[in-house]
Amino acid sequence: MEIKGAVAVITGGASGIGESVARTLAGLGAKVVIGDRDAAQLQRVAEAIEAAGGQVAYAKCEVTSDSDVADLMDLAIERFGSLNICVAAAGIIRDGLMLNVDRETGKVKKAMTTEQFKMVVDVNLVGSFITIREAALRMVNNGYKGLLVPISSVNKAGQTGQMNYSSTKAAIALWPKILVGEFQMRGVQGVRVVSIAPGYVGTPMVKGMNQDALGKILEGVHIARLIEPEEIANAVVFAAQNEAMDATCLEITGGLIANGLAK
Ligand SMILES: NC(=O)c1ccc[n+]([C@@H]2O[C@H](COP(=O)([O-])OP(=O)(O)OC[C@H]3O[C@@H](n4cnc5c(N)ncnc54)[C@H](O)[C@@H]3O)[C@@H](O)[C@H]2O)c1
Repeated sequence: MEIKGAVAVITGGASGIGESVARTLAGLGAKVVIGDRDAAQLQRVAEAIEAAGGQVAYAKCEVTSDSDVADLMDLAIERFGSLNICVAAAGIIRDGLMLNVDRETGKVKKAMTTEQFKMVVDVNLVGSFITIREAALRMVNNGYKGLLVPISSVNKAGQTGQMNYSSTKAAIALWPKILVGEFQMRGVQGVRVVSIAPGYVGTPMVKGMNQDALGKILEGVHIARLIEPEEIANAVVFAAQNEAMDATCLEITGGLIANGLAK
């Protein structure tokens, strides 16, 4: 796929990985539509893209809302006449142990609430599902060549303290195979699915993590630093440009080999 002239919709486009994907694609001549629930930050990113000479539209979008996401996709088609790349980058963390057991008494001090589990599932899993579905159905119905990019994580392997988050990312890593299987079954050509599983990226999400835990995790990262958001954005570009990339989950981890927090 040619990036120049392609139309890309990015959720979570007001920060971190989504912002970087939007700026990178716009810098290469794509027309980008960004959605996020943070309207002020969305405007900041859109203004930066325009100031750099890029083409951008944006709308406040809550990814758990069917109608918000549908409207975002329609905005791309109305404004730019197509929809070729969809990156579902909106996501949250609400870390914690399922059972926080007191080291002295051996009794449970606190348990992860159902709300804490569901909140992450709603945004990361249900929100990404709605985003990918609404983009895919427009690509298929209009015969647009497309690439769908849901965002997984290296923590799909099962990160201590992230029962909620890791569950969503493990599921998303399976979507490229599931979706390409159904496209193949029904003769849908031209819409590819590649999920991206980043390691630890220097975004506000990670900067807001427990910094002691992050320091321990970085000890297991071969490149010995956080990944830059642009390094993830470049992988989206690579996946778009290479038709052979399909039905796979691409790990970009900086060589993270140890998983799990210190005791
Ligand atoms: N940063 C990392 O190390 C890392 C690693 C692996 C995967 N990821 C994934 O990459 C994606 C982006 O993460 P990031 O680090 O850029 O985070 P971030 O916090 O910098 O950005 C996330 C954006 O999503 C938006 N958002 C959150 N909930 C939303 C909702 N319900 N509706 C609409 N917008 C919503 C936020 O407002 C924010 O602008 C997430 O799915 C995250 O799980 C991040």
